[in-house]
Amino acid sequence: MTKKHHIEVMIQEDQVSTRIQELGDAISRDYAGKSVHLICILKGSVYFTCELAKRITVPVTMDFMQCSSYGAATKSSGVVKLVKDLDEAITGLNVLIIEDIIDSGRTLAHLKNLLAQRKPASLRICTLLDKPERRVVEVDVDYTGFAIEDKFVVGYGLDFDQQYRNLPYIGVVKFDETEKESAKL
Ligand code: IMP
Ligand code: MG
Repeated sequence: MTKKHHIEVMIQEDQVSTRIQELGDAISRDYAGKSVHLICILKGSVYFTCELAKRITVPVTMDFMQCSSYGAATKSSGVVKLVKDLDEAITGLNVLIIEDIIDSGRTLAHLKNLLAQRKPASLRICTLLDKPERRVVEVDVDYTGFAIEDKFVVGYGLDFDQQYRNLPYIGVVKFDETEKESAKL
């Protein structure tokens, strides 16, 4: 059963929108005269990818990929498994991987290696959130929305046990103390 918890706002909806506009502007500048092929990492990156794509002014194409890392709800285990591969080849394309959050870095390090073997013209990474303190595997990130503290967050695509993806802001999951625990304080 999911532990009793509540959600506290960490980054307001308008702050997220403003930052996504800035990222869209930077990407549009950096890819001027080219097109960009966005790779949305399902499911968490769906909301961010859509919002970002609307703000990119160079031609955009999109594909989707899904991987899973086994483990408990709030921890990734380190084993990355490909659940759904891309529909189309990326050879010769300017590929931009769109991720919701980078934690240990294992998912992206694995994906970047995998996609690099397919010979894209360029391969970059854009993440909405980054928890730098948690990094286990080094990974070069080209665009970051917000660097955040080591807290478990939800909203804007991110889930806790598949819940809260639809929150329009970034929230922190706060676990409520049990009556026994609070009696000890
Ligand atoms: P990494 O492979 O450890 O970098 O894990 C990245 C993946 O773990 C993300 O794509 C998320 O699916 C998940 N994840 C990591 N931190 C959080 C969080 O705070 N909230 C929700 N999901 C998270
Ligand atoms: Mg994810």
